[in-house]
Amino acid sequence: MSAPVSAHVSAQYPVARPRRLRRGPAVRRLVQGNRLHAADLILPMFVKEGLTEPQPVASMPGVFQHTRDSLRKAAHEAAEAGVGGLILFGIPAVKDARGSAADDPDGILQQALRDVNAEVGDSLVVLADTCLDEFTDHGHCGILTPSGDVDNDATLERYASVAVAQAEAGAQMVAPSGMMDGQVGAIRTALDAAGHAGVPILAYSVKYASAFYGPFRDAAECAPQFGDRSTHQQDPAGPLDEALREVRLDLAEGADAVMVKPAGAYLDVITRVRAEVDVPVAAYQVSGEYAMIEAAAANGWIDRDRMIHESLVAIKRAGADLILTYWAVEVARGL
Ligand code: PBG
Repeated sequence: MSAPVSAHVSAQYPVARPRRLRRGPAVRRLVQGNRLHAADLILPMFVKEGLTEPQPVASMPGVFQHTRDSLRKAAHEAAEAGVGGLILFGIPAVKDARGSAADDPDGILQQALRDVNAEVGDSLVVLADTCLDEFTDHGHCGILTPSGDVDNDATLERYASVAVAQAEAGAQMVAPSGMMDGQVGAIRTALDAAGHAGVPILAYSVKYASAFYGPFRDAAECAPQFGDRSTHQQDPAGPLDEALREVRLDLAEGADAVMVKPAGAYLDVITRVRAEVDVPVAAYQVSGEYAMIEAAAANGWIDRDRMIHESLVAIKRAGADLILTYWAVEVARGL
């Protein structure tokens, strides 16, 4: 009679045991490799002209439209938590077709840049989002043609002027987010000519036409009044090569760092861009990514803190050097 099959099998023990490095918290921590640092995090912040009290953003629990005063206070808290940077978005009291408030030296964003830079500009990097959608009455990112298309080259002139106004107000870095062709070159030329050759450009190089921006359009009051942004932002279903082309063009035009946006649904893009470039890569964990986790947590359906951490570690693991996240202060405090 032959031996039962199980007798042969039970004599085989695995040679490789990956579980050895997972046996306890100390060894897991030692071999972790992907870690968040407060200094890698950038907090997006909103400031609204004419507000007397900070205004909660309904679709983004914990996020506020700030007054100039509450913005200063929140900027201090971020600096104390060790956050690496703040990126400011301004909402003007008066909007028009060309977004005049965007490059007004006394426009709300310029006032806020001066305030925040004076208060915390030595301990963290103060960035400005360089775009027009918060400032135009139609909510589009640029100047419109009579037929309602965004006029690329007319918009470039506006971006150049906006970036210069931001730099003069103390923006330590500008971040053009409008996805116009040639925007990085136009801004670089204008900054240099105005004596701001030292101000770096963090280019939103790879920006998808994403449903994940939904809550932001409440926060920044910039939902387009008609149409959408699909004639300039990238198609989520488009080829990966298109993202790499955008990155190469921006670098050739003088970008100092590049961004992929959104982050969580585009981890493959982050990885490819990281492999392709020799500048810092940022990723923007956008409003919808934030809102989904907060909403599920408010319902008691997920473990909020673990999910926030896991979502950020994934972005890091994909290759992002910097992460823009609305949880920056909370996460920095917990590290
Ligand atoms: C454009 C801009 C947008 C975001 C950042 N910059 C909105 C858009 O492109 O429609 C979205 C950020 C977010 O969703 O958190 N100024």
